[in-house]
Amino acid sequence: MKLILAPMEGVLDHPMRELLCDLGGFDHCVSEFIRVSNQLLPRRVFHRLCPELRQGGQTLNGTPVIVQLLGGNPEMLAANATRACELGAPGIDLNFGCPAKTVNRHDGGASLLRSPQRLFDIVSAVRGAVPSDTPVTAKMRLGFEDKTLALENASAIESGGAANITVHARTKVEGYAPPAHWQWIDKIQQQVSIPIIANGEIWNVDDYQRCQQESRCQDIMVGRGAIRTPDIGLQIKALNQELHHTPLTWGEICQLVLGFYHRIKHIPPRFACSRLKQWLGLLSHGYEPGKALFTRIKRLKDVDLIVEQINMDISDYSLS
Ligand SMILES: Cc1cc2nc3c(=O)[nH]c(=O)nc-3n(C[C@H](O)[C@H](O)[C@H](O)COP(=O)(O)O)c2cc1C
Repeated sequence: MKLILAPMEGVLDHPMRELLCDLGGFDHCVSEFIRVSNQLLPRRVFHRLCPELRQGGQTLNGTPVIVQLLGGNPEMLAANATRACELGAPGIDLNFGCPAKTVNRHDGGASLLRSPQRLFDIVSAVRGAVPSDTPVTAKMRLGFEDKTLALENASAIESGGAANITVHARTKVEGYAPPAHWQWIDKIQQQVSIPIIANGEIWNVDDYQRCQQESRCQDIMVGRGAIRTPDIGLQIKALNQELHHTPLTWGEICQLVLGFYHRIKHIPPRFACSRLKQWLGLLSHGYEPGKALFTRIKRLKDVDLIVEQINMDISDYSLS
């Protein structure tokens, strides 16, 4: 069973990937998408969005980071995939799921799900361009407006030569609204012979078990659940390997948030402020004491004051 840390633009960036992979449980991650339009991107763009390329395409603890590309032009995607591989990417993932209007208007992400032929053209161009030992994978939704092309799209991706497909079990129109339709992942799995990775709405170990049963997938990708419950990977792995893992306490979570702040300290304070608020806001859904902390910090504009409040919770919740 493999557990994969999802790509999440603006959230699961390099410092967050380092932190979550360091905590453990994840077998590999996928970078935030790199948007490809009509040019071969400069190397600095790849290094900015995937700094792990400077360390062999892995996080510091050795977790591989697959580079995700987004776009609709097969030749340009192939050229940029080749560049990513030259820079050390351990794999290339193709984004056929992004629902953002700007992305879809510019012919990328979920809008491609309206044409199985285009998916085939893109996957086969990229597959043909990169070294044969570099896996090319794809991440798709169940469709754009409806699910009528879901099976055909998966078959097109398989025929193009993808090594596996991650299925986010919703259409573009369904956005991020629950539920995720895990049974559809099973339908896709029966259609193709390559491995399928199930994704969507896995917030805890119970969801993981239900998703495995309904999708009949071994491998799972987790996104928002890993931000809300940072040790979800360890909890799932412990369940599978019949090991004991005590979920992190609120005091330990606050230590992680402080660790995250130290990793992003070099960015302008107002950005550091919004990253801390973003994470504490999401954590407040998963941890009862997080609600009170988030209420105390959400209007603060000084990053030092936010850090002070985090430290207060560290000392309060480490005592109990
Ligand atoms: C803020 C945000 C950014 C995302 N960015 C990406 C991305 O760059 N590439 C991608 O394939 N999916 C992206 N996704 C989708 C997630 O990878 C994932 O498929 C989705 O959140 C469902 O999984 P989850 O319920 O485990 O979060 C993003 C989702 C969110 C909420």
